[in-house]
Amino acid sequence: MLSFSSSQLLVALLLIIYVGSILVSSHSREVTGRQDYIGASLLPSSHPEKATGRKSTLPVIHRDGHSHPRSSSEQSRDIVQIIRLDNERVAFIQSKFRGVDQTLSSGKVRLGAILGAGNYVVNISLGTPKRGLTVAFDTGSALTWTQCLPCVVSCYRQVNLIFDPSRSSSYRNVSCASTTCAQIASGTSVPPSCSGSTCLYGIIYGDSSYSNGFFATEKLTLSPTDKINNFQFGCGQDNQGLFGSLDGLMGLSRDRISIVEQTASKYGRIFSYCLPDTSTPTGYLSLGAGGRSSAAFTPMLTLSEPSFYGVKLVAINIEGKRLPISPTVFSRAGTIIDSGTVITRLPRTAYRALRTAFRQAMRRYLRARPPPGLILDTCYNLRRSINPHIPSVTFTFGGDVNINLTRNNLLYTISRSCECLAFTGNSDDSSMGIYGNVQQLKFEVTFNLPRRQIGFVPNSC
Ligand SMILES: *[C@@H]1O[C@H](CO)[C@@H](O)[C@H](O)[C@H]1NC(C)=O
Ligand SMILES: *[C@@H]1O[C@H](CO)[C@@H](O)[C@H](O)[C@H]1NC(C)=O
Ligand SMILES: *[C@@H]1O[C@H](CO)[C@@H](O)[C@H](O)[C@H]1NC(C)=O
Repeated sequence: MLSFSSSQLLVALLLIIYVGSILVSSHSREVTGRQDYIGASLLPSSHPEKATGRKSTLPVIHRDGHSHPRSSSEQSRDIVQIIRLDNERVAFIQSKFRGVDQTLSSGKVRLGAILGAGNYVVNISLGTPKRGLTVAFDTGSALTWTQCLPCVVSCYRQVNLIFDPSRSSSYRNVSCASTTCAQIASGTSVPPSCSGSTCLYGIIYGDSSYSNGFFATEKLTLSPTDKINNFQFGCGQDNQGLFGSLDGLMGLSRDRISIVEQTASKYGRIFSYCLPDTSTPTGYLSLGAGGRSSAAFTPMLTLSEPSFYGVKLVAINIEGKRLPISPTVFSRAGTIIDSGTVITRLPRTAYRALRTAFRQAMRRYLRARPPPGLILDTCYNLRRSINPHIPSVTFTFGGDVNINLTRNNLLYTISRSCECLAFTGNSDDSSMGIYGNVQQLKFEVTFNLPRRQIGFVPNSC
């Protein structure tokens, strides 16, 4: 009797595990094409109502990796332009930390948000019935927006059909009188305005790029099993600028209107991404817990601009030797980690020390002259070098987290005969340091807001 019931139990257990694994593996295939997160999805899949912390994963590609025909603005995007846009982004971020709106040489004042060149994109869907959109995600931005018909003023050419709110049964304008409307200002730095009773947002990026329109709510679909009702977004009626042909942006910063905060009850304010390099076609962006347990976590700091993710950079090591940089050099300005900045910015003193040691370690290789106007100044022609020995560089963050950088994290490829050290120095030691996306390639970077931790796992995509 006992053995019968325990074998029954065993059969039942096996059945649950079997059915669970079918559900989970079809779910994870559907969503990610990857099998790594089975454990993470197992429990919540059977309790869809109590999905707190459940992970939703989207494939990520680099925006220049699109297979669709490029618009003319995209064709002209070359390395020099990418670096120029990167400089604009960095100047803007640093000016925010200095507490001033930056004044352009032309005399215009920049407000609001930041745009960069090194954008990574995901596909999301909006509306009922749902429409696919290709958007860049950005840890330095709060607002999620897309172009919307009827494009009252203007829309640029984009990847997918422009979203038509009049054809969606779940679209709602946000009322001008609502507290939701009043909350936009922190995310766009531009106070909302009203058109009748409809809340209007305006977001201005560097280079006169902007999006203005109705602040609205919609059903956001991340995957067949992940839907977010009443997601607040910008329905752009007047859009222009250097967005390439992207359908819009998705904001992942620490702000009330970012997707991270809006989905707090569903995903627990945890997200992670792995940015692909040239060796992998896709990376991923995940919302919710369930990252790798092997992550090394460093404290997430809140700096004077609290929407950015602060980290404590402690030291830089090259070939196992710590560079002679006083810790106060790093602590003076502080450092943020940013998905949208391409090239890591270091305090001037720290960059000089890194450059000197890197050049010394690379002295037997042919130097290359970088294209004029580039901020990169330590370049090599490695075309004829078989298995060149690239020195190991390790960044040490607070909590004794050591990040070993590989060749693709250290050298930025300008051309086959010109690869440059992918770091640069700020003009002095007082401007904000930024840990950029070249140095994050292929790491799973996890942002755990409740625990105030940022985690790294190498070689994750
Ligand atoms: C996103 O959608 C576009 C067009 O709808 C498609 O070409 C592209 O491959 C998709 N990208 C990803 C990362 O799924
Ligand atoms: C949203 O507001 C705009 C401007 O007031 C209006 O034209 C549009 O019809 C509204 N849409 C809905 C669904 O209420
Ligand atoms: C980083 O490299 C050092 C020395 O090469 C090694 O001992 C350490 O385990 C590596 N750390 C990680 C996280 O891979």
